[in-house]
Amino acid sequence: MSARLVSRLRDVVGDAHVLTDADVRAGYETDWLRKWHGTACCVVRPATASEVAAVLVECSAASVAVVPQGGNTGLVGGSVPRGGEVVLSMQRFTALGAVDGAAHQVTAGAGVTIESLQRHARAAGLDFAVDWGARATATVGGAVNTNAGGSRVVRFGTMRAQVMGLQAVFADGSVVTQLDGLPKETAGPSLAGLLVGSEGTLAVVTAVRLRLVPWYRETAAALVACDSLAQAVGLLPRLRALASLDAVELLLPEALSLACHALDVAPPLDPASAAAFVMVDCAAHDDPQGELAELLIDERGVLAVGAQRELLYRIRDHVTIAIGARGMPLKLDVAVPVHRLDELMAQVRALVANLAPTAQLVAFGHLAEGNVHVNVLGAGEAEASLRDGVLGAAIALGGTISAEHGIGIAKADWLERLKGPAAVAVMRAVKQSLDPHGMLNPGVLLT
Ligand code: MLT
Ligand code: ZN
Repeated sequence: MSARLVSRLRDVVGDAHVLTDADVRAGYETDWLRKWHGTACCVVRPATASEVAAVLVECSAASVAVVPQGGNTGLVGGSVPRGGEVVLSMQRFTALGAVDGAAHQVTAGAGVTIESLQRHARAAGLDFAVDWGARATATVGGAVNTNAGGSRVVRFGTMRAQVMGLQAVFADGSVVTQLDGLPKETAGPSLAGLLVGSEGTLAVVTAVRLRLVPWYRETAAALVACDSLAQAVGLLPRLRALASLDAVELLLPEALSLACHALDVAPPLDPASAAAFVMVDCAAHDDPQGELAELLIDERGVLAVGAQRELLYRIRDHVTIAIGARGMPLKLDVAVPVHRLDELMAQVRALVANLAPTAQLVAFGHLAEGNVHVNVLGAGEAEASLRDGVLGAAIALGGTISAEHGIGIAKADWLERLKGPAAVAVMRAVKQSLDPHGMLNPGVLLT
């Protein structure tokens, strides 16, 4: 059956774009941290929405499921095969439309990387608001499907707030195109709203109409040392009052130390000198250094402009890679209402101390959203109970088990505990009506 399907897919996209060789498939069959992997029937690389539609129709006829894949930088196993699926790579959807300066919008193909999109917007004097470390590889389609967040959510919101419309192909091969980008329209529920965060389980997103934001060229950052996490959270009201506030990131000492060590750079502040470090970034049309420096008068911190600021970002962006270089961590992405962050981290520390006393906890994240990336290295057999403990603690504190990475296959068994049976029943009903045969990313999001 699969030889027949492969031959049909070759007819649709051309021989060169159906990859069957095991060595070539390998890069599509595992994620970038090499935590999640499976074997694909083949990798197919369409270039147009109608080719995607034809691929879905062929796969449906052959009863072979499809795993849509963008930059494959996900952290929850949502973009790699589990066993025998067709990987639908969106790499060839790299078209970028002209920047619409009047509307502050642009249309981008699903395979456009976040970095290319930022560069494209900046060439027109604008910027794309969502940004995080994997920008060079992560794609627009993946960002839509996971409702990516990153460091600038405090100013511009998540991916959901940037999506003005999209084009998507459904399991039955129908194509819906809504790329007009009308800021005002009340004609039924929002298709984009439904698909953002759906992790490739409802449709294949092929193009997206995106909001652009001003490009603030004047920047200044700071690293602030805090004696406690509560003190770090206590900075937020004053930080939010800064008109130029662009990012408020959290680095716990182990994260700062690990990233600096991996990059072989001197830490801007001694990691042992504080319980938590807050990285503040400001960006504006006029130099924001003054207002940031004023804030620092009462704090223990360093101002970082120009190359120093770039170094701060290099350190921040390197934390995940530095952790990965030490081993395969238990990696969680929890968030709680920010006033409960201190409680969450106290519980996380107690869980690690009790369940895996020799393990190393490396935590960092996005302070303004109460979003912590809890990484535990060397948890061994305690990994499953630690994971359940941390996820349970986040929910009990009114938080979430997925702030920006998605549910994937990693946390699908926890979705109902987070959302409750009624909400999950609604999600299942939507899935059933749009993808009745379970063709799209089975096992992801909904078990
Ligand atoms: C980050 O904030 O750097 C990313 O979400 C990656 C991660 O959590 O490891
Ligand atoms: Zn993050």
